[in-house]
Amino acid sequence: MNISAVQVSKSLIELLRSDSKTVVLTGAGISAESGVPTFRGKDGLWNKFDPRELATFSAFMANPKLVWEWYQFRRDLIDKVMPNQGHIALAEMEKSLKQLRIVTQNVDNLHQRAGSRGVIELHGNIARNKCVNCSAPIAEREIDPDNIPLCECGGKIRPDIVWFGEPLPVEAIETAQQESASAELFFSIGTSAEVYPAADLPRIAKRAGAYLVEINPDPTAITPYADEVFALPAGEALPQIWQCAVGHSN
Ligand code: OAD
Repeated sequence: MNISAVQVSKSLIELLRSDSKTVVLTGAGISAESGVPTFRGKDGLWNKFDPRELATFSAFMANPKLVWEWYQFRRDLIDKVMPNQGHIALAEMEKSLKQLRIVTQNVDNLHQRAGSRGVIELHGNIARNKCVNCSAPIAEREIDPDNIPLCECGGKIRPDIVWFGEPLPVEAIETAQQESASAELFFSIGTSAEVYPAADLPRIAKRAGAYLVEINPDPTAITPYADEVFALPAGEALPQIWQCAVGHSN
């Protein structure tokens, strides 16, 4: 017997059971239940800190110490948390749904730590560094903000994060756009859908005919044209949706 508080439509169950081509876009909200703060909203990071001072190239060049203090603080925070039921449910779904692809705006590695493979990272990864000049990857875990190491070419080391005003990694965004345009089912989970080009992906999928599902306790710009909305935390909704799909009889 399935005990489920969420109502899942027959259409969604059928799409999941038939291993339809599925794209899952995640944002900061999916990691909120792990204890990683989101960016927007009442307790969001950008409510307390100014992104222009912390998350732009010019901010880094003007004050690399401050920017590295900020990223070391976030690295330390992320190191201490664990994937939650939402990440774990998606990793479970990926084992059965061979055509499922996760596209994330998150830089926290929690999908990968939950067991997801082939995650498309649109905004970089907080665990990685690169050279500010030549973009060479540099594997230093602990950066001392008072003594920022230099690349062989002489450039300063920066976090491998996409900052405001910077382009996304070309292969990642192009693949995400192509996958979205051919998806039959699209989940938009834990994102305010305010930051482009990621925010376009649900629209691309919907325009191409995908069934659009949103999981977010609060309404977003995506909500009015979603086919199905779960106004719940992802860690509650996802395990129940998946349970409904796998527990449903033929
Ligand atoms: P936001 O902080 O803009 O939005 C987080 C969303 O998650 C909000 O709509 C919340 O309602 C929702 N939310 C909160 N708790 C949730 C939960 N338990 N389950 C599901 N949803 C929940 O985060 P993003 O949309 O990811 O960019 O922000 C996009 C980008 O803006 C980020 O990648 C970051 C930021 O600047 C970079 O760092 C480059």
